[in-house]
Amino acid sequence: MILALESSCDETAVALFSPERGLAGEWISSQVATHARHGGVVPDLAAREHLRNFAPLLQRAQAEVGFAAVTRVAVTHGPGLAPCLALGVAAAQALGRALHVPVVGVNHLRGHVWSAFLPVHAENPTGFSARLDELLPHLGLIVSGGNTLLFTLDRARRLQVLAATRDDAAGEALDKGAKLLGLGYPGGPLIDQASRAGRADAFDFPRGIGARSDLGFSFSGLKTSLRYRIEKMGLAEVARDLPDLCASYQKAVVDALVRKTGLALEQGGGQYRSLGLSGGVANNRRLRERLAARAQRERVAFLPSRPEHTGDNAGMIAFAAWADPDCRLAEFLQVVPGLALEGT
Ligand code: KG4
Repeated sequence: MILALESSCDETAVALFSPERGLAGEWISSQVATHARHGGVVPDLAAREHLRNFAPLLQRAQAEVGFAAVTRVAVTHGPGLAPCLALGVAAAQALGRALHVPVVGVNHLRGHVWSAFLPVHAENPTGFSARLDELLPHLGLIVSGGNTLLFTLDRARRLQVLAATRDDAAGEALDKGAKLLGLGYPGGPLIDQASRAGRADAFDFPRGIGARSDLGFSFSGLKTSLRYRIEKMGLAEVARDLPDLCASYQKAVVDALVRKTGLALEQGGGQYRSLGLSGGVANNRRLRERLAARAQRERVAFLPSRPEHTGDNAGMIAFAAWADPDCRLAEFLQVVPGLALEGT
């Protein structure tokens, strides 16, 4: 079993994963309410919360499943907020020593990459490798508060980043847009909710598309355009047109994501067998619907992460530590002196 810890931002999470049986348990403590008061995540406050939350979560994991079968501890070692990552790594190192098992560092983004395959594993754990062979090469889109990127996984499970955002991430664009509109934090779900009653063609916002063959994303122009629009409108008009503004703004974000993903599929020349969608913005109803339709048209399997694995979670970190060859081999944190790493 792999015991995984995640604390890169504002969720403290612990998971236990068994290759033969899948996720044996997940324990998470969210700080969203704490940071909502400040309109965004405050790093030092987040670190203090992680310090408070890890021990009770680990106690529950130990009581409900137990650590007797743990052969490895996995921990998110970046990217993320430095004081938060440091606490997770320190806790993992202590656990590695206490349980006499090695500790592996997992890149948070590799967690998002593999979260799209967790449902495939859950369906048939022992048949996972064979099924994965049918789903590779894979094209994936990660859309979170901090990242927006397109990547591929080849037949050897090797990751290659195709494109990223040049400025804001998609979730960041939604969060900042929501702030400008006077909605709360995090803004993505609030814009999603408000846009249900609005017309997506009411306002024209830029798509930040760039050259036809360019896969890179850009969302900062969109945010600026919303700010100018709001400044021209005045408060009463903004309040009246809020659903239309939200629907149009959200459509601009989703259009850009769908268009670039479609372009990457085209550029792949029919090689991809599956399309993944992960990260917090993957919860967006319209984005899911449109990418599912696109995948169907291209005859590739659509693999969206489950809602519980779109945001930060330790389940995806445990799974990546097992499924990703680079996590298994290259990113060991050699923190247990004298302990052999071979065969783990
Ligand atoms: O993966 P995640 O937790 O981000 C990082 O830690 O980087 O995702 C959080 C992001 C936030 O920007 C939030 O506004 C967005 O995901 N989000 C959504 C929805 N639910 C969460 N964006 C659009 N529609 C949603 N339903």
